[in-house]
Amino acid sequence: MHVCFVNGSPKTGESTSHYFIKNIEKMLADMPCVEIKAIDHLQNPNAQEAFSAIVKADVVVFVFPLYIDSIPSSLLEFLYVLESYINSSELLNIKMPRCYAVVNEGFYGGTQNINALNNIQYFCRSVGFHWRFGVGIGAGEYLRSTKDIPLNHKSKIKVYNQFKKIAGDILMPSVSIETDNFADPQMTKRFFMLMGAISWQLKAKKNGLRLSQLKAKPFIDN
Ligand SMILES: Cc1cc2nc3c(=O)[nH]c(=O)nc-3n(C[C@H](O)[C@H](O)[C@H](O)COP(=O)(O)O)c2cc1C
Repeated sequence: MHVCFVNGSPKTGESTSHYFIKNIEKMLADMPCVEIKAIDHLQNPNAQEAFSAIVKADVVVFVFPLYIDSIPSSLLEFLYVLESYINSSELLNIKMPRCYAVVNEGFYGGTQNINALNNIQYFCRSVGFHWRFGVGIGAGEYLRSTKDIPLNHKSKIKVYNQFKKIAGDILMPSVSIETDNFADPQMTKRFFMLMGAISWQLKAKKNGLRLSQLKAKPFIDN
């Protein structure tokens, strides 16, 4: 059995999506896994290889960030081209993969990912992939930036348990119909806002900015 993770983060550096993929991969023991970064295959003449790997996998897991309550446009473009590939290929005898999705957002409150999960579910069903269920995770940047605290730590255990659920279903799909799930790290919203404010201030300092410059609105005419 092969698992293909599609990383939909447009970031060139480290992303929360990649961090989540590595964590789910660890839960799959020795199962062969590949990670395809959607952004690397936009306008890439060799993208067909990536599409073929996705379609031929037994399981596909879409892992991506929430952008303006939806799917990042780079991933959307990738999905359009993947759909054309599927529609134009001789795939009649191919067993389509089982599918899962993990969407993460910057803010606290994983339920905000519900529309993006519905969108990716709709895509999967429309191309004939066998949709299983998805997970919406809040405070994604926080989870990655505190990766020294393992995901099975009690403050992050709800997120860990959702990944365990996906891994468990990949290894042995349950016969019941699953619904989407949502999780956040354990903390008050107030504490999350405070941590967020401090992290922006530290980033500003590191980049040589005064704190007042954080409030600059350079695109608004005075
Ligand atoms: C253009 C843009 C739009 C975003 N829109 C949202 C949003 O609607 N809600 C939210 O909570 N976070 C939003 N975020 C934050 C990302 O979802 C968050 O930083 C996420 O953890 C990034 O994941 P990644 O590292 O896998 O790319 C947005 C970020 C960007 C750059």
